[in-house]
Amino acid sequence: MLRARAAPAMRKKPRPQAGGVPGREEVRFQGVRLYLVERKMGRSRRSFLTQLARSKGFMVEDVLSDAVTHVVSEDCQASSLWTWLRGRDVKNLPAMHVLGISWFTDSMKEGKPVAVETRHLIEVCVSDTSPALPDGTSSTPLLTVSQYACKRRTTTVNNNKILTDALEVLAESYEFKEIPGRCLAFRRASSVLKSLPWAVRCLRDTEGLPCLGEHSKAVMEEILQSGHSFEVEKTLSDEKYQTLKLFTSVFGVGPKTAEKWYRGGLRSFSDVLAAPGIHLNRMQQSGFLHYGDISRAVSKAEARALGNLIDEAVRAVTPDAVLALTGGFRRYRGKEFGHDVDFIVTTREPGKEEKLLTGIIERLKQQVSTLFGLLLYCEYNASTFDMVKLPSHQFEAMDHFAKCFLIVRLEGGRVEGGLHGAEGDGRGWRAVRVDLVSPPMDRYAFALLGWTGSRQFERDLRRFARAERRMLLDNHTLYDKTKKEFLAATTEKDIFAHLGLEYIEPWQRNA
Ligand code: CTP
Ligand code: MN
Ligand code: MN
Repeated sequence: MLRARAAPAMRKKPRPQAGGVPGREEVRFQGVRLYLVERKMGRSRRSFLTQLARSKGFMVEDVLSDAVTHVVSEDCQASSLWTWLRGRDVKNLPAMHVLGISWFTDSMKEGKPVAVETRHLIEVCVSDTSPALPDGTSSTPLLTVSQYACKRRTTTVNNNKILTDALEVLAESYEFKEIPGRCLAFRRASSVLKSLPWAVRCLRDTEGLPCLGEHSKAVMEEILQSGHSFEVEKTLSDEKYQTLKLFTSVFGVGPKTAEKWYRGGLRSFSDVLAAPGIHLNRMQQSGFLHYGDISRAVSKAEARALGNLIDEAVRAVTPDAVLALTGGFRRYRGKEFGHDVDFIVTTREPGKEEKLLTGIIERLKQQVSTLFGLLLYCEYNASTFDMVKLPSHQFEAMDHFAKCFLIVRLEGGRVEGGLHGAEGDGRGWRAVRVDLVSPPMDRYAFALLGWTGSRQFERDLRRFARAERRMLLDNHTLYDKTKKEFLAATTEKDIFAHLGLEYIEPWQRNA
């Protein structure tokens, strides 16, 4: 769909000298007809670029007609460009590639039309000012949206937050009810809406979009028309939903435990803490103890301070280590907050990665900040990774690498600009959840890709691999079922390439 319609180069006669008479050059790429938009580009630059392209064997049309296959524009204001394009009398617009100048310069450099990638496309804009086409279909998005989150670019800019918040309430409620199919359907619908560069204003805007089931559409329609959804409001005010949401917000309490407590008649934290028959494990005890701190968002500055803290510990253990930020903080850009901070750590010397992690933990335990230990909680899971047991045909929630789940005491003095939203109590420190994972170096790219998330992005990477490529992907490996072999990768780009996917930057994986 996104490939350039490039015909093989045809060379019948010797190439004319560059800069020959415009329009007389040999046409090398029959299937490609360019049109350069003069707006913003200006007349003289347009004529220069036209000559340049023709000298390289490209066909360049002077007027925008239905014969054009590639529209190139320097106008980065997508909305005004689309308004202008829709105002032209061309029926074939939906089939044309509408491209930024980067596609043109890449093609000139290569001397041939390069494949069209999503990064070249000028986003389709459904603007308020766009005039309706004669058939009244102006606001139908022309952009092809994939059913796979790993083929969409989703930044943290969400143009449809009202809708996605509502759909996620329903997803969560079906997760609590343990109906995974419905939960996933709402998650997928929400994820598609998050990827749109425009706001949905009526249901017709969603025509042609994948993953929007009848139930999701009904909820969306209600919200678009009346501002709220009866079903979502009912869920939000439902006692069971509220209680399960509260209980699962505690570190160490999953849906199963929350359900058990609810069925035992417990409705609040004080109910749980006062109930005689309830045994809290160590993780849950810490969860309650530090509830206020760890349920408060972690700022970028706090994440950076923790990075420095972990880095100090890593350097003290071995100078040979590799430490990288992963999880949400690797995906966010700008002023964003996370619920914890995730790091991946390994060593270039094979087999030493597990010792590295235990060394870091020891070091953090020894480190004392103003009389208190740095580690408020530590659960260490030793590695159960064994290449012989792979590939695993069933995806497991946890990977097999050595890892630890921590609660770290972070002093305000270490944080640039101070702690986030903790001025009130004057303690001068806060507790933060930190996760560390430590794969062997040759598994690094897979672990980094798996831990960068988002969960929906990961889910669809695996689904895409299985359904479209007959491959098995997890945090450890990529296995080709047709060739019956493991595919090696040292970077995330290698993995995308094996899968035949365009590379998606971490900040575009917020699906
Ligand atoms: N992950 C994983 N295996 C685990 C835990 C997490 O593969 N045992 C991956 C998940 O795919 C997730 C990422 O690691 O996307 C980070 O997990 P988490 O910290 O729970 O979520 P974030 O995406 O970092 O979001 P947040 O900012 O809320 O922490
Ligand atoms: Mn995280
Ligand atoms: Mn985490």
